[in-house]
Amino acid sequence: MFLVRLIYASKITDGFGPKDIENILQSARTYNVKTHVTGMLCFSNKYFLQCLDGSRTAVNNTYQQILNDKRHHNVIMLNYTQIPEREFEKWSMGYVPQSRVTESLNLKFSGSVDFNPFKMSGESAHLLMLALKDSITGAIS
Ligand SMILES: Cc1cc2nc3c(=O)[nH]c(=O)nc-3n(C[C@H](O)[C@H](O)[C@H](O)COP(=O)(O)O)c2cc1C
Repeated sequence: MFLVRLIYASKITDGFGPKDIENILQSARTYNVKTHVTGMLCFSNKYFLQCLDGSRTAVNNTYQQILNDKRHHNVIMLNYTQIPEREFEKWSMGYVPQSRVTESLNLKFSGSVDFNPFKMSGESAHLLMLALKDSITGAIS
């Protein structure tokens, strides 16, 4: 089964709190280990940016689950492509908190210093995630 990468952006719903992040990561990691999905989730400025790598079936099924999740809305797919290899193979779901999404990285990959994945192309979102991965390698599991 060949590999695909899916990147999407979304916005948190009202009432979202730190406990929600914990719960999302816990279920994401539990399910992704079983389905062999790997990836990274960035959270900053009320937005999510997530990359899912894995088999087409596993990634599509996971995305369907995510689309129906009431903890966020305005889910928009930024990138979907077949890939020759995974880019986040060490992480069932690596987490990048707000503090890691720096103004200089935002400026490098978007038109402003503020994190807003809705204003980024799929390619820039992908490159930002790779830069974030490089900046935190060794700091998360
Ligand atoms: C921003 C965000 C990212 C998520 N990432 C994943 C993920 O990578 N894998 C996953 O299985 N569920 C993820 N979820 C959770 C799913 O939406 C869903 O809650 C989970 O699959 C459990 O489904 P269940 O409640 O029917 O058991 C995410 C949810 C949100 C809001």
